[in-house]
Parts: sequence; C-alpha cells; structure tokens
Amino acid sequence: MTHPSTHFSHAITRAPAGSVTAGLRAVDTGAPDLARMQADHLAYIAALRSTGATVVELPPLPAYPDALFVEDTALCLPEGAIIMRPGAPSRLGEAAEMAPTLAGFFGEIAWIKGPGTIEGGDILVTGREVLVGRSARTDAAGVAEMTEIAAGWGHQVREVFTPPGVLHFKTDCSLMDADTILSTRRLAASGCFDGYRIIDVAEGEEAAANAIRFNDLVLFPAGFPRTRDALLTAGYNLVEIGNAECAKLDGGMSCLSLRFTPRP
Ligand code: GLY
Repeated sequence: MTHPSTHFSHAITRAPAGSVTAGLRAVDTGAPDLARMQADHLAYIAALRSTGATVVELPPLPAYPDALFVEDTALCLPEGAIIMRPGAPSRLGEAAEMAPTLAGFFGEIAWIKGPGTIEGGDILVTGREVLVGRSARTDAAGVAEMTEIAAGWGHQVREVFTPPGVLHFKTDCSLMDADTILSTRRLAASGCFDGYRIIDVAEGEEAAANAIRFNDLVLFPAGFPRTRDALLTAGYNLVEIGNAECAKLDGGMSCLSLRFTPRP
C-alpha cells in the first residue's frame, strides 16, 4: 500500500566533495575514501531511480564537508518544506544552500529562524505523527519552532529523545511502513515506539538501524546480514548499498537524500 510517509515522487541528493575527508565524526576511524564513497553514492541514486522517482543531483559544496548529508537541511512535508537550522556550526550554512532547490518544488517554504537548532536526521515522519528526537544537534527551542510550523500544517508532533552518544534520532531507527519501525533495542527500550510494530535490529548490528523505505524498496546498508534477513522475512524488498565510507562520518541511508512528493 502506498503512503505519503513511505512513497515519494522525488528525491534530492548532493554529490560528496573532496573536502568530505574533513567531515564531522564522533570517533576518528580514518578519512573516508572519496572514490569508494562516490561509487556507493551513485549506487544509492540508481536505487532511488529504480523505483520510478525523479532524483535531483546537486553538485558538491566543497565549503561544507558534510553537505552530502542533505537530510539535515530540511523537513519535507506534503504541505511544504521547513528549512532546518543545523546544530553543528560548520553545517549551519548548508540549509540556505538547499532552500532555492526546494523552492522550485514547494509553494510553502518555512524557516527555522533560531536561536534553537534542529537537524532533519532527528525527525521521523510516520503514518500518524512527526517524531522529533532531542539530541546534541536538536534542542528544545528548535523542536518548539518546528512544532509550531508543522502543527499549523495539521501535523501532530511528538518530542522524544535520542540515546546519549548517538548522533541523530534516525541513526537508531527507520520507518519501514506507515506503522512499522526498524529500531535498535536501546532506542525502543525508551518506549517511544509503543503502539507501533517494531522490528529489532540484531544485537551488534546497531549501524543497520538507519535504512530508508523509498517506494517499494528498502535501501539498506550492506554488511548486516541478520537484520537484513529479518527484513526479508518480514516481506520487504531490499537493496543493499555500501555505507562503509559514510559510516566513518556517522552518516547512513537516510542522511543522503531528501524525499518528497511536490503538491500539484
Ligand atoms: N558527519 C555528519 C554529521 O556529523 O553531521
């Protein structure tokens, strides 16, 4: 069944710049290999396109090493787009870079003006509500400002909390269908998904929690066989995408695109 939280006509991506080697990371496990990252990025775009979607590929932004993680710059809802205000100072300017592209698709563009901060990676839109996880990047004021805008468009927003030490709320969870969430046990233990069907990420495969349902596909990071098999058993169509290079910067499948359906 199609649903606006899982089915989209469009996606926006941004190619990694050479400066991505300076991208933010919680733990330094070495610089990402640009050529390998570019190859994985192309496979990711091909998977999005294979569902019939239009993918807008934006050029690299060398001034912003983390700019390929476009999800953090905006929240796209059916009624309009909200331009975020990233909490990482080095990423603040990325949001304004994204705004003109979104203005080409959305009649309504709203801005988080601050002083609060909020990043798209902390926002999960399900079939029934918008969940926003407070984190080191998303604070109470950012949540409040986003809530006011989204509520004005008819959305119910619920504030939850990202586990300590985890970059974004969606680092640890993904929407698989309107009522089903793939989650780490550490996040689901908070009770934030009570009332949803939960598919557990296998112990030791926590980095598999960030996947995306995009039309009839789940784009899933390669290398997590037990979680992959759980999703296959649950009936999802999976495509595995290499994520080893983005993972060095704490990035995953959701971070690499904005997904939406413009209103006619
Ligand atoms: N490297 C992704 C981020 O920290 O936002």
